[in-house]
Formats: sequence, C-alpha cells, structure tokens
Amino acid sequence: MTHAIRRKSKAEPAPPTTLFLFGAHGDLVKRLLVPALYNLKRNGLLGDGLRIIGVDHNAISDEGFAQKLEEFIRNEMAGKGDHTLDPAVWSRLAKGISYVQGDFLDDSTYQALAAKIADSGTGNAVFYLATAPRFFSEVARRLGSAGLLEETPEAFRRVVIEKPFGSDLHTAEALNACLLKVMTEKQIYRIDHYLGKETVQNILVSRFSNSLFEAFWNNHYIDHVQITAAETVGVETRGSFYEHTGALRDMVPNHLFQLLAMVAMEPPAAFGADAVRGEKAKVVGAIRPWTVEEARANSVRGQYAAGEIDGNALPGYREENNVAPDSNTETYVALKVMIDNWRWVGVPFYLRTGKRMSVRDTEIVICFKPAPYAQFRDTEVDELQPTYLRIQIQPNEGMWFDLLAKRPGQALKMDNIELGFAYKDFFEMQPSTGYETLIYDCLTGDQTLFQRADNIENGWRAVQPFLDAWQQDSTVQQYAAGENGPKAGEELLTRDCRVWHRLG
Ligand code: BG6
Repeated sequence: MTHAIRRKSKAEPAPPTTLFLFGAHGDLVKRLLVPALYNLKRNGLLGDGLRIIGVDHNAISDEGFAQKLEEFIRNEMAGKGDHTLDPAVWSRLAKGISYVQGDFLDDSTYQALAAKIADSGTGNAVFYLATAPRFFSEVARRLGSAGLLEETPEAFRRVVIEKPFGSDLHTAEALNACLLKVMTEKQIYRIDHYLGKETVQNILVSRFSNSLFEAFWNNHYIDHVQITAAETVGVETRGSFYEHTGALRDMVPNHLFQLLAMVAMEPPAAFGADAVRGEKAKVVGAIRPWTVEEARANSVRGQYAAGEIDGNALPGYREENNVAPDSNTETYVALKVMIDNWRWVGVPFYLRTGKRMSVRDTEIVICFKPAPYAQFRDTEVDELQPTYLRIQIQPNEGMWFDLLAKRPGQALKMDNIELGFAYKDFFEMQPSTGYETLIYDCLTGDQTLFQRADNIENGWRAVQPFLDAWQQDSTVQQYAAGENGPKAGEELLTRDCRVWHRLG
C-alpha cells in the first residue's frame, strides 16, 4: 500500500467503489464533499467505477439529485471566482450518481443500500456519515445489523465519521465503543479536515526531511509554542449547533490538537498509518491533565459582541439567529497546556481560536529562547528581540524564520529579518477544499491522515478539565467583532512575560 504523505507523484485512480453520502442534502456535502469529488475526478484520481449515492429523507429523483449536485459545484466554484466547470468531467462523474430516499433510523433504508451495492458490480463500499452527530452510532449500528460492514478479501467496507466526534470524553468513548462493536478500527475513518491541508502535512515532511530542525526542536532552544486559528466569520447559519458546541469543542480537541501533534510528536519509524498515528496519540496523551482549578487559571473564554471588520458593522453573537439572547457560549478560547515528556517539559503551548477576529489567520509560531545578552552590553542594542519560526497554515501558506541581523552601518544595531518560503512561489496550488486528499485516502485504504480512537480520546481527556471548570463557572468575556479576543486572552501570556504574535 502507498501512504498519504509519500504517494503523490504516482497516485493511481481509486478502485471502483460505491460511496454513500448520508446527509446528502446537508451543507457539508454541498460546500465541501461534492466539489472535492469533482476536483478528484478532474485530476484523474477517480476511475469510472465510482458510484456516488446520496442518502437522505427528502424525496428527489436520481436526475434531480445529480442536477442539484451540479448546481452546488457551480455555486461553490463561482463563489471563488471560477466559472469553468468542465462539462466532460462533470458528465463522467454524474453517470455514477443516484439517490436513495430513506429515514436513517428505518431498517428498510439499509435494505435499499444493500440492493444498490448488489447492483454496482463491486462489493467495495464507503459509508460517509455527513449527518448530524446524533445519528452516528445509530447509523453504524444499523449498517452492522444489515450485514453491510462485512468485508471479504475482495471487497472493503469503510465508514467515514465527521466531527464532532463526541462532546466530551465520556461521549467520545461511548461512540468509539459503539463503532467498534460493529466494525474494526481498520474500517473507521474519523475525519479532521485540517489533516487534508497541504500545509499541515508539510509540517511533518519539513520537520523530518530537513535534519536542521531536529537540532533545535526541543526545550533547550524553544521557549514556547503558539497555535492560533483566527477566523473573521461568525457562526453564520449554525447558531443552534454552535450554542451547544462552542469554540473549545468545535476547534480544540480536533483541529488545534492535530496541529499541536504535528509540531510536538516524535519522528515516526515510517510514514505509515500505524507509526504516525501511534506517535500522535502518544504526544496528545502526554498533555498534562490540569486540575479543575488549574484549568480555570489556564483558560480564557470570550464571546464576540457587535463590532466591525473592514468597515462592515456586524452583530454580536447573542443577536445571531438561533442563539439565546443571554447565551454564555464561547466563540473564543485561549488555553495554556503543557506536554510532560522529555522533549517538551517546561515549554508552554498556548492555543487560541476565535470567530469574528480581525483577520483570518491560522498559524503556528515556534518561539526560540533568547541568546545571552552579555556580548551586546556595550553596544546600542538594548535588548534582543524574540526570534521565531512561523508556520502559516492559511491563508498565505508558507514558513518563515524571523531572525535578527545587523543593520548596515558603523554602530552595532539590529533589526528583525525574515527568511522564508511561500508555497505560491514554489508550487502551483491546485484548487482544493482540503477534502480531496482525505476522500482519496479513504477510497485507497490509507488511514494515516485519519484519527485513531486513542488519539480522539486523549484529546478529549486533555480538554475535559476545561469543560469541568467551565461547568462550575461559565463566565464569558466580551470582545468586539474585529478585535482579537478579550483582554484576558492577552493576559494569559503577559503574566508569563510573553506576547501573542501579531495576527495577519
Ligand atoms: C470546522 C468548524 O470544523 O472548521 C468551523 O466547525 C470552523 O466552526 C472551520 O469555521 C474552520 O475550518 P477552516 O478550514 O476554514 O480553517
């Protein structure tokens, strides 16, 4: 088998498969999955044996469904200024599209799916659960009782589970237990779309292919690490989902911990699923479990109030649709966590994420320890500015070292300079939703970029103390839309004599 991170140059089309999209009328299918399938088809990575079958409760004909998908893709592409849907590519993809109307909780739906597989000419099937999370265990159980998860040497059966995977440690463990009753770990593909991002995969590749990184990648040279996922969007149409989720559950145990794991994990023995996932689970498992008091002291909850971004006046969170006017749900969270292993002991990892912040910016900043000052004592250099490595995940993908250099002239003065690499200067970036890689890997049986049960549970174990602390005190601090979180978020670092890297 080839592996996600090393296969690119000779990727073969995925094998014939029936791909069932549960929740076919939902937002995820429209905005991300179908455009990703189209991109894969255009890049020659889906053979003609791929059949896409929507499953949902609304009534619609096969042709009507295919037409809807075409509209979704056109809208998505147009939104990005691209009006060039290739009719030949689309018609080849559309040939395999059909629809099953059914209730997810009704056994007859699963009989209809069995009939579709029997018709397809291949026993391979992927069941993609793009549904509300409350259906995950029920659908899995029913797929199991209908015999649809039984594999043979010739035919695989796989289940893709979207996030949120549980809402705390207990529910994540229960969901894992339920899935593992009806299928094996090898059949489960737990998605975190951050792992589909090229820049996220590049963290591993750069760290482990350039030997210089290993020399300073530890607590001897690194003072602390900052991981930020700042968004300018608000909750949009997802108020009722977000009210029960909040920024911590929505972003931390999944996306931010994936970034943390990529930065902090030990080198795997190979870029295969077991080795990579084993190292990731280990490092997330080494995050120190705070007591409830420590969790309170090391976390900040914020919520956006009315404000403006780029001159546009924006409502506060409590004024959004389907949000309670006195809601205490957090739209911003900042945390400090410690990793108790040999490489990282004593190095804080500060994490923050928020909606309606000043700019969209997902970045990892590795801050180096200062050099000794003594040698500069008799010069005009008053202090040595911090130096760091910035890994920009989005939107301006790349990596930059921010270092110090001598300013030309007779006096010894210094300035910060940048050594960097921008993706766009070296590589042609294909249009991508981040889901292309993940869908392709699932179809080809590569689990490297999917979360294993222990990784998910270790993530929830690390955030559980914050959830417990907030259950006792759900105070949320307001910040105006367009600000980078509440003041307390800054203080989480200033009290440690550090500052957040400036966004944007
Ligand atoms: C999703 C969250 O998983 O990730 C959203 O549910 C968030 O709330 C999104 O906006 C961010 O993804 P990206 O790829 O835009 O950083």
